[in-house]
Amino acid sequence: MATDVMIAASGLTKRFGSVRALDKVSFEVQKGEVVGFLGPNGAGKSTTMRILTCFISPSAGTAKVRGHDVFEEPLAVRKSLGYLPQRAPLYTDMNVYEYLQFAASVRGLDDSTFRKRMKRVVEVCGLAQTLGKDIGTLSHGFRQRVGLGQALIHDPAILILDEPTSDLDPNEKAEVLKYIKEIGQDRTILLSTHNLSEVEEACARAIIISKGRVVADGPLDDIRAKTGAVRYIVTVDEKKTLKNGGAPKAAEVKAALEAIDGARTIRELPTDETAHKFEVGGDKAGDLRRELYGLMVAKGWILLELRREAQSLDAVFRDLTRSDERLDRGYAPDEDDDSDDDDATTAADDDDSDDDDSDDDDSDDDDSDDDDSDDDDSDDDDSDDDDSDDDDDDDDDGDKDKD
Ligand SMILES: Nc1ncnc2c1ncn2[C@@H]1O[C@H](COP(=O)(O)OP(=O)(O)OP(=O)(O)O)[C@@H](O)[C@H]1O
Ligand SMILES: [Mg+2]
Repeated sequence: MATDVMIAASGLTKRFGSVRALDKVSFEVQKGEVVGFLGPNGAGKSTTMRILTCFISPSAGTAKVRGHDVFEEPLAVRKSLGYLPQRAPLYTDMNVYEYLQFAASVRGLDDSTFRKRMKRVVEVCGLAQTLGKDIGTLSHGFRQRVGLGQALIHDPAILILDEPTSDLDPNEKAEVLKYIKEIGQDRTILLSTHNLSEVEEACARAIIISKGRVVADGPLDDIRAKTGAVRYIVTVDEKKTLKNGGAPKAAEVKAALEAIDGARTIRELPTDETAHKFEVGGDKAGDLRRELYGLMVAKGWILLELRREAQSLDAVFRDLTRSDERLDRGYAPDEDDDSDDDDATTAADDDDSDDDDSDDDDSDDDDSDDDDSDDDDSDDDDSDDDDSDDDDDDDDDGDKDKD
């Protein structure tokens, strides 16, 4: 394995009873990367992260952190990692300083190293004003910062952050994100979130999972390009025209856009301007800007904005994970769903060519290795949570993480 691979997941599968939370998830994270880990509710993000941080064991597959197997060498793995679980485990009756001191002692830091690290953590996480306060009295955002602080206290090379900005108000979100970006300058970070704009801001690469499978993995631009579509933003003045035909109505602009050869989808967008703003979808291979401009000239409409860009990450995410959403809402899988599965397969193929395509849900090969009943699985799970093997450093996390 190349020395630069900090996290390597290979064919990770996890079952909770009859639920297959992960289905042959494979990916690598290189040194210095900040990777966004995206997926709808229940996609398997936290499960993956819990495996990588040695809190649960996979039903099949392997995961390595800095070359150490999470199952065989959990201590070495934990030493390299800082982990912020989805619900940060904090002792609410400790004050912030005491808690960070506790986290440092659990990590085996001596006093002088702790003081040195503490200074940096306080600075990076913005904790100076809260050090003497009981954690129980802190706002959720500050608790997240404390959670980040404990993840950073031992100066880990790798950070695994499970929705560090969820439930935060926009100000706190921006602050925490700023810290993450700052921290990310000299660390490897895997960051799960539902917020695509956060990924666009903090990450150069994203991994999208859906129903426990990797459906996209790559630089954001490549992911955006996955649907093979581009979009044009067209904004037309709604008050003035260059001809005497009167101001254009939205419906009129829409109809004219629809008539353009190659315009596949037309959607009106909200705008604060006195203007009609539309998104026009087209093929990546084509370029409709000339036609769009020509239309404006022919009609005498005043073009306030025209741009061509890759599909938004938002749209690609919805596209790739749509079938999940349909099932959650109780819709029968339809042809969309099937095609979605295809998408998933194709996308996964791009990245981890391996085995994950063929079969999936029903396939025997992997059922065969667990033809065993659910109890087996549940054993598995139990073993996870109880952290039997690791009541060492992180067990506080583990226990609390359960609630
Ligand atoms: N301890 C458990 N016992 C049983 N099922 C579980 C357990 N943990 C997770 N699951 C199931 O595994 C699947 C993946 O869950 P996971 O928490 O990894 O999703 P997620 O992507 O983190 O979702 P969210 O965005 O809601 O946090 C879900 O179907 C979930 O119900
Ligand atoms: Mg989760």
